[in-house]
Amino acid sequence: MKLIHLTDLHIAPEGTSKALEGTVQRTRRAIDVINTMHADAELCVVTGDIAYDPDEIAYDLADELLSQLEVPTVSLVGNHDDRAMACAALSSLRDDGHGFVQQTKALSRGTAIFLDTKDEGTHAGAFCATRQAWLEQQLAASDGPVWLFLHHAPFATGLAAMDTIGMKDADARALADLLRAHGRVEHLFFGHYHRPMSGVWNGIPFSSHRSMMLQCALDFDTVAHLAVLAEEPQIAIVLADDERTIVHYHDFDTGHEPSSSGAPHG
Ligand SMILES: [Fe+2]
Repeated sequence: MKLIHLTDLHIAPEGTSKALEGTVQRTRRAIDVINTMHADAELCVVTGDIAYDPDEIAYDLADELLSQLEVPTVSLVGNHDDRAMACAALSSLRDDGHGFVQQTKALSRGTAIFLDTKDEGTHAGAFCATRQAWLEQQLAASDGPVWLFLHHAPFATGLAAMDTIGMKDADARALADLLRAHGRVEHLFFGHYHRPMSGVWNGIPFSSHRSMMLQCALDFDTVAHLAVLAEEPQIAIVLADDERTIVHYHDFDTGHEPSSSGAPHG
């Protein structure tokens, strides 16, 4: 099974601001790379922050771009997104019936579950009782390994500034308890941090990578200010079978030098 993980598009019309220059171009290039090299992938997942400042123009632009993907695609919302606007523009988003953008999809190898971790009105992450109940149902109904996609990591990453807008501790503990009880979660994929990282949380392997915007600096100390870098964007290509899960990080050159000014929230 081959999956593509793409994250944090932060789509903004060209000319919006210096910090957002090139998000459309980088996303377009990512889509070209996927269509050229990975059109055989089973699914492409965009783990949130589809737009930078949610408005209809940005989401229509995101829809126009993502509809060019030759791979079936599911998008999630992130802290920068507006649920209603995103759902109105992008057909791959689903309301779970309780106002959250969450869904489940059968894969050739197990089940993909897409969680909504947006905390309305803040940049932090949440996983409230309503979402916990929904996930418990999805896990109980799932067959085989589970591949979990969400925007915020359910743990502190060590990136000091970003961890101030991570998932609430109590909600993260509730998610950990649910997943531990289920016991068949194969891998966790998240966005939000605009940095490549991988590891194991409560026995579950995880990975994340760079955005289509500026990237967050590797800073374990500065809480008050988020330093950003003009590094190349990345996609991740996931290969999985009964014995292994491999996450390949693919940097791609856009031929465009993004600005290093500005300090957006993950
Ligand atoms: Fe982001």
